[in-house]
Amino acid sequence: MIVTGGNSAGDFLRLLGNGKEFGLKEIHYTYQDTEGGIADALKLCEDFADGDRIVVILGDNIVQDSIAQYVRKFRTQGSGARILLKEVTDPERFGCPELDGDRIVCIEEKPSQPKSRYAVTGIYMYDFKVFEFCRHLTPSQRGELEITDVNNAYIQSGELKYDILEGWWADAGQFESLFRAGTLVAQSRRQGISANHEVGAR
Ligand code: G1P
Repeated sequence: MIVTGGNSAGDFLRLLGNGKEFGLKEIHYTYQDTEGGIADALKLCEDFADGDRIVVILGDNIVQDSIAQYVRKFRTQGSGARILLKEVTDPERFGCPELDGDRIVCIEEKPSQPKSRYAVTGIYMYDFKVFEFCRHLTPSQRGELEITDVNNAYIQSGELKYDILEGWWADAGQFESLFRAGTLVAQSRRQGISANHEVGAR
């Protein structure tokens, strides 16, 4: 399910089509008609999720490696939620966790005084309770239903687990970070190509 909004929704449809090119059986699309936040976008997916557990990925989050290993852990977890953290130099730009060993005490959205060096990446795994939590949210100061409030609701119910993401992670939501993401992808491609050459040469 792809949630888009604004004036660019058609671009996603043109680029991704029905997903056949990527080996998908189908792609579902929906349209968020206000800038209501990530949790508001998620609400549009309740019917699609149909009582199942879900993985949410923000479209501007780009990762080096497959996330399959974390999703497998979430499968065995049974219920609750699981998020991925990454150490960064600028945690004040993101959702930032306060950690106590393997427990997240609380997550603050873009704190001026971060309580750790970690960012909450835009990759979230939830059980179906997420839609109940979303129903009870109130808009934040920036007028959005915050995904951080959803994650804090899971912390309150003692059901939020985390992993530290391996490999690089980029949030391409700003020009600078978009440039960084492009550079990282280009480097990975070059390395991939030279690795393939090595395999071919052997
Ligand atoms: C959103 C979330 C934030 C998270 C970030 C990851 O921020 O609110 O908690 O760390 O995505 O990309 P936004 O892109 O809305 O500023």
